[in-house]
Amino acid sequence: MPSSLLPDCAIPWQIIWMPKELFFLHKLSKIFPNGTIGISDLSLRIFEGECLLITGSNGSGKTLLMRMLLGLVEPTEGEIRFRGIPLHKTQDTLRREVGMVFQDADAQIIGETLEEDIAFGPKNLGYAKETIKTQVHAALKATGLWEKKDFPPRRLSGGEKRRLAVAGILAMGGTVLIMDEPFANLDWSGVMLVLESIRHLKAAGKTLIILTHELEKVLALADRLGILHQGRIRELGAPGDILDRLVPEYGVRDPRRTYTAAKDCTWLTV
Ligand SMILES: Nc1ncnc2c1ncn2[C@@H]1O[C@H](COP(=O)(O)OP(=O)(O)OP(=O)(O)O)[C@@H](O)[C@H]1O
Ligand SMILES: [Mg+2]
Repeated sequence: MPSSLLPDCAIPWQIIWMPKELFFLHKLSKIFPNGTIGISDLSLRIFEGECLLITGSNGSGKTLLMRMLLGLVEPTEGEIRFRGIPLHKTQDTLRREVGMVFQDADAQIIGETLEEDIAFGPKNLGYAKETIKTQVHAALKATGLWEKKDFPPRRLSGGEKRRLAVAGILAMGGTVLIMDEPFANLDWSGVMLVLESIRHLKAAGKTLIILTHELEKVLALADRLGILHQGRIRELGAPGDILDRLVPEYGVRDPRRTYTAAKDCTWLTV
């Protein structure tokens, strides 16, 4: 509405609209018994409905951060709150609301068939039988796995297993999705299916936290980009701004580069 039409007492919507904080991470550290510093003095706020992309080189702490957000790894110092409540006091809510795709797709396989595997999450959450069936079938179709619904998951290819993990979280219908390297091992059509799911989830207002070094696949969908380096968030903000000030030290490559000829298609920069 044009501001001239607002009554005098009206407060501009920019002031009224405040994104709700979902995760609050304060001075988080994780030091392993062998002395490895996994996460170091990391503070971060994650807001409802945003698509937050976190990148960083191998070993920068992406998977560890995801495991800490899920309460699977205890911090050495600092705290994490989910909707304002310390993580350890809100495990049930967390389980209901947050779905995850692990980097190691095998670690997530539970069922004897794809259908059974995908149904595991919604069953655990106590959904009605009919609802489970509808959600599982929709997830199988959305990820291109419908034809294989009676197949044993362990015999799927690496890329298909990753799609299965995505189907699992789609069927759970949570509000927050954390994905660790969701594109690993996927061929072009596999990437497109996962991207399509991500797009739908974003349009449906879900909060998406994507940890990946394959920035080029998903950058356009990101609201914020964070760079993790040696366990610390070193940069955080609008993706374009962050990429404009990339330094080689982070080990992250700016994906905005475009190729015009086949001979240009190389990762070599010399
Ligand atoms: N249980 C553990 N004991 C000791 N060190 C660990 C343990 N788990 C993780 N680390 C270390 O923590 C650091 C962060 O690991 P993490 O798996 O989070 O990296 P990542 O950013 O996900 O890397 P990648 O891109 O290869 O997936 C690494 O140096 C790793 O060796
Ligand atoms: Mg990782």
